[in-house]
Amino acid sequence: APGSPALTPPLGWNSWNSFGCGGVNETVIRQAADTMVSSGMRDAGYQYVVVDDCWFDPQRDAQGNLRAHPTKFPSGMKALGDYIHGRGLKFGIYQVPTERTCAQGGGAHPGSTGSMGHEVQDARSFASWGVDYLKYDWCSSSGTRDQQVARFTIMRDALRATGRPIVYSINPNSYHAPTGDKYNWGEVADLWRTTEDLLDIWQNGNTNSYPMGVGNVVDVTAPLAVQAGPGHWNDPDMLVVGRPGLTLTESRSHFALWALMAAPLMAGNDIRTMSADVSAILRSPRLLAVNQDSLGAGGRRVRDDGTTEVFAKPLADGSVAVGLFNRGNATATVSTTPAQIGLSGGSFTLTDLWTGATSSSTGQLSASVPAHGVAAYRVSGGSPVASTTSRLRGAGSGRC
Ligand code: DGJ
Repeated sequence: APGSPALTPPLGWNSWNSFGCGGVNETVIRQAADTMVSSGMRDAGYQYVVVDDCWFDPQRDAQGNLRAHPTKFPSGMKALGDYIHGRGLKFGIYQVPTERTCAQGGGAHPGSTGSMGHEVQDARSFASWGVDYLKYDWCSSSGTRDQQVARFTIMRDALRATGRPIVYSINPNSYHAPTGDKYNWGEVADLWRTTEDLLDIWQNGNTNSYPMGVGNVVDVTAPLAVQAGPGHWNDPDMLVVGRPGLTLTESRSHFALWALMAAPLMAGNDIRTMSADVSAILRSPRLLAVNQDSLGAGGRRVRDDGTTEVFAKPLADGSVAVGLFNRGNATATVSTTPAQIGLSGGSFTLTDLWTGATSSSTGQLSASVPAHGVAAYRVSGGSPVASTTSRLRGAGSGRC
């Protein structure tokens, strides 16, 4: 949205995917913040620690102010914000523009403490607690587009009126069809969910029913690439990297695709117990650099052959990040051309975004990509490389 503090896609961690409503409390959040530091995620660029649904007291105080849940967050939200800031991180919180949060509506948490009618008051509370990021979730199956725009805009303005830079993340899609809502929210929010919740599955073959897997969310979000840019990002949901339902190969592909789509990268795994392999995926320096590139272009799907696809994300220095994606269940050769990814002829230097290995090409770009894998490269044009390596075949094998 105009004046957005999110000039690159937000990077962080969110409690929902691993802790849901029942498991979230201040100990978990503090440990997550500690782990952001000890794992190297903070130094890799991750900033936001976001407490999702169920942090609040089921009842507002006598003045109508929100307050922390008395047993889950006994130290209060200001103290939690201070703890997070003390580790060089930023504090994110959750609310809804309706009467009840999703957990309240579903019965997992009592009360009806949504922000409807309390927007200015709640935005001031957030600012006074040091909140840097608000996830604002339309937890209702009812409401027209105009009603959504109106309510989401009220909180945008309330946040901006606090004078504190607070990233505004909305979810207009909690209860929409799996095909998602294609509205461009760029004037209202800094990022907006494009689909229902992403679960840790590769792909649901029935694209008209829940749940959504990685492939399903890609299919909804890829055509929206043109909407992405500094201060306005498509949000294909928190990462399921490292969650039990994905293989390591699938987690790598999911991460690379989200990086290429210029998606916010909000880890959703239990980072306190993640493996070294999962930690390495989340901290992949070259993919994070592609995601955080200052141009802010969303990766376009420039080729779709059914089970294999090519994504291309233009970068600020004129190079292009490319993903060669194999959805299928067998190894496949995935190919593209410089013209297809937006470069004119000549010789090209290719940097493998996973390994950093470089090679050169004078023509077609192609790689042998394992089942459910993505080979990813940065392609820089015009370098006078006198090389006989004209193809990338095999360069991606075994990596992802
Ligand atoms: C629905 C959202 O899509 C999830 O990410 C999470 O915020 C839950 N609501 C919380 O109830």
